[in-house]
Amino acid sequence: MSDHDLPRNLPVVPARSGDDGESTRAVHGPRQAPPEQQPMGLPTYRTSAFVFETAQDYADVLGDQTSGYSYSRVDNPTADAFALGAAAMDAHGLEQDVAAQAFASGMAASSTTLLALCSTGSHIVAPAAVYGGTYGVIRHVLERFGVTATFVEGNEMDAVRAALRPETALVWAETIANPTTAVADLSGFAAVCRDAGIPLVVDNTFASPAVCRPLQWGASLVMQSATKYIGGHSDVTGGVVVGDVELMARIRRARIDLGGILAPDEAFLLHRGLLTLPVRVARHCATAAAVAEALADHPRIERIDYPGLPTHPQHQLADKLFESGPEGKRYGAILAVTPGGDRNVGMALCDGLRVGTVATSLGGVHTVVSHVASTTHRQMDDAALAAAGIAPSTVRVSIGLEDAEDLIRDLEQALDRLPV
Ligand SMILES: Cc1ncc(COP(=O)(O)O)c(C=O)c1O
Repeated sequence: MSDHDLPRNLPVVPARSGDDGESTRAVHGPRQAPPEQQPMGLPTYRTSAFVFETAQDYADVLGDQTSGYSYSRVDNPTADAFALGAAAMDAHGLEQDVAAQAFASGMAASSTTLLALCSTGSHIVAPAAVYGGTYGVIRHVLERFGVTATFVEGNEMDAVRAALRPETALVWAETIANPTTAVADLSGFAAVCRDAGIPLVVDNTFASPAVCRPLQWGASLVMQSATKYIGGHSDVTGGVVVGDVELMARIRRARIDLGGILAPDEAFLLHRGLLTLPVRVARHCATAAAVAEALADHPRIERIDYPGLPTHPQHQLADKLFESGPEGKRYGAILAVTPGGDRNVGMALCDGLRVGTVATSLGGVHTVVSHVASTTHRQMDDAALAAAGIAPSTVRVSIGLEDAEDLIRDLEQALDRLPV
């Protein structure tokens, strides 16, 4: 065979390629140059460090004089590719630029954001029903450093306004509350924050950017636990914050200091999740709506909270804030199902399911149930639960991608067999 016939892509080590020893050859073997073509899939830069041509190049990148990568705790191209993809979902139609950063978990995203925006003496306004992990960072970490918080009951913008103080650093909101599915008045909260000159930070985990894009309603920053709908398959943990470029630059600095960046393999999976997010979420939502409607009149059901039901207190607000697709309006895919009875009835409903799975987390392909009073809200007694609008028997259902008919049949048979 002549040289002429050899395939161009055959990896070849040239003859007489040096006299380095075995171990040096093992470490410094020839490296494949990156292809000039764009790959269809996202390359995973599974590396902790990046190489520089010269010492000056290294100094310039560290000094932010030139763009480039140095160390994967600081930045990583796969993490950045995921952040960019997430930002593109949230940024659609906005008049201003937005930036994004990827994190190792939703809590890394939230805690880094809070630490970046607060200092000793700062005050935070957050909902009384805020996610337990966020409550924990505020009460168990930030309070030790002199940050105070007011937890506001209900969903009224006047209550948020009344809670503001001169030292309030930010208002934190959740698009859809856990487990009540109360919908936050994002544009009202944004107006209050604009008047006060402080950022509105929205945890959009229960909605995802395929249901709601809080930046469009005036939020300064939107945070997601990407572990949920963005990953979508219950096989990866991550978080992302998207929003105002200057605030994001502060958050990036805090992320570098705190070390909560997303790992490259996880970034690959989450980026892949983004590619199918709208398709999956559209189906999650359509199935959730079908299940909510089918169960609403079941004799063992006391109430179902789902923003898509006309009986939901914020149904009209959801109509305004939430996205539509060719399949119709998307109201999310979390239901709070409350059968008549006590805690045991709620647990029996979970245990009676065949398709639904008892597990933590939400937003994945599997329909997942949790009995609220004994899991996410186990610290609350019945009186505290009642104040938060949660019954002792309430079950949170995260609707997966199974067939709607199977889920309806599954829930009906479990309801029919509940103890009286
Ligand atoms: C509303 C909300 N925010 C934040 C988080 C934290 O996300 P992660 O578990 O990815 O740290 C969760 C997790 O359940 C959540 O439900």
